[in-house]
Amino acid sequence: MSEYLPGLAGVPATQSNISDIDGEKGILSYRGYPIEQLAEQSTFEETTLLLLDGKLPSQTHLDEFAIKLRRNRRVQYHITDLMKTFPPSGHPMEMLQTAVASLGMFYPGGECLTGGECQDLDYIHNMTVKIIARMGTLVAMWEHIRQGYEPPEPRDGYSYAENFLYMFTREKPDPLLAHIMDVCLILHAEHTINASTFSVLVNASTLASPNSVIAAALAALSGPLHGGANQKVVEMLEDIGSPDKAEEYIDKRLANKEVIWGMGHREYKTKDPRAKILEKLVDKLMEARGGAVNPMFETAKMVEKICEDRLAQKGVYANVDFYSGILYTEMGIPADQFTAIFAIARSAGWLAHWREQLSDNRIFRPTQVYAGEPVRDYTPIELR
Ligand code: COA
Repeated sequence: MSEYLPGLAGVPATQSNISDIDGEKGILSYRGYPIEQLAEQSTFEETTLLLLDGKLPSQTHLDEFAIKLRRNRRVQYHITDLMKTFPPSGHPMEMLQTAVASLGMFYPGGECLTGGECQDLDYIHNMTVKIIARMGTLVAMWEHIRQGYEPPEPRDGYSYAENFLYMFTREKPDPLLAHIMDVCLILHAEHTINASTFSVLVNASTLASPNSVIAAALAALSGPLHGGANQKVVEMLEDIGSPDKAEEYIDKRLANKEVIWGMGHREYKTKDPRAKILEKLVDKLMEARGGAVNPMFETAKMVEKICEDRLAQKGVYANVDFYSGILYTEMGIPADQFTAIFAIARSAGWLAHWREQLSDNRIFRPTQVYAGEPVRDYTPIELR
């Protein structure tokens, strides 16, 4: 009998060339390139191509891809109309899952996904572009639709990050905030085989349409054990209120055996490399604003310092969610949209895994350890 490992912990579910984590050393790389170098020198558009194709693009290839993304930002008016029928109190992740799945109805053609040499590479490429391009549009549109307003149209002259911020706020994007959003998208674009990416593999392996595959991944990400901790971080920092109250608050939570949100990670036993990059962006923003930023920034710094003292010996350090939420808050983005922004970025990694799965596909069909009744005779209802 095979050994059953709950959550498949430590069981390789695939072989992949897309990203890698060294949790002891705190290294994350996409296609072999360290995340620090990508955050410093790349853009979300370029990183997306790197994840999809496995290599850094030429300038011409990148320009062509960026143009395709821009041309595919608009969504059909049917989708806008559909979104207007959703309850305004609906969660952005449920909106996104429904809208992404619905968009798939406009692009039949998935019958070409037969695996191996029979694939229609144009269909795969076009669907990849359409989904990534529209994720940002849908999330930004929802912010207006749920308040009863007409959503703004995308702007062709803007990069992915700039357009998202423009559509979200209706304002010309501040260059520093647009840069920070671009880096946040790069940092969240991929992270090996977690629950949502695993669901991509399972659904891709049945040759489901790409929109269905991404809708399934969105479902997995929407759960509080996966996406969503950055929303909790912001709520926690608001609860604390100011740096001088942090110590008492943290000690009380730890004494009550409650987790400190944004701390700890299954894979990293040192500080998450993405948290280090985000912390530097927090510093940059504070410096640019002459300190005139949300007091949450100072509180977060104090919380991290106290947690280092209390939790470092357990290998618990700040993770990617610790600083991202406060940066999004500074951009005027409400907390319930944070997971949806994570999803926009992660669509790049999900679709890279979709393509990798299709290129060497075998349907997932794991086995189980049966722990139920042995075979027995049916009891007629009058004898039960
Ligand atoms: N706050 C306080 N203590 C924490 C902690 C946190 N955020 N994360 C881990 N610990 C403690 C555990 O209680 C455990 O202590 P113990 O050995 O005394 O029992 C020890 O550190 C080891 O943690 P463990 O439960 O094995 O970690 P895990 O790998 O199972 O869990 C997380 C990882 C992410 C689920 C966990 O760190 C967590 O809940 N973090 C907060 C939520 C969060 O920020 N999630 C986003 C992840 S990107």
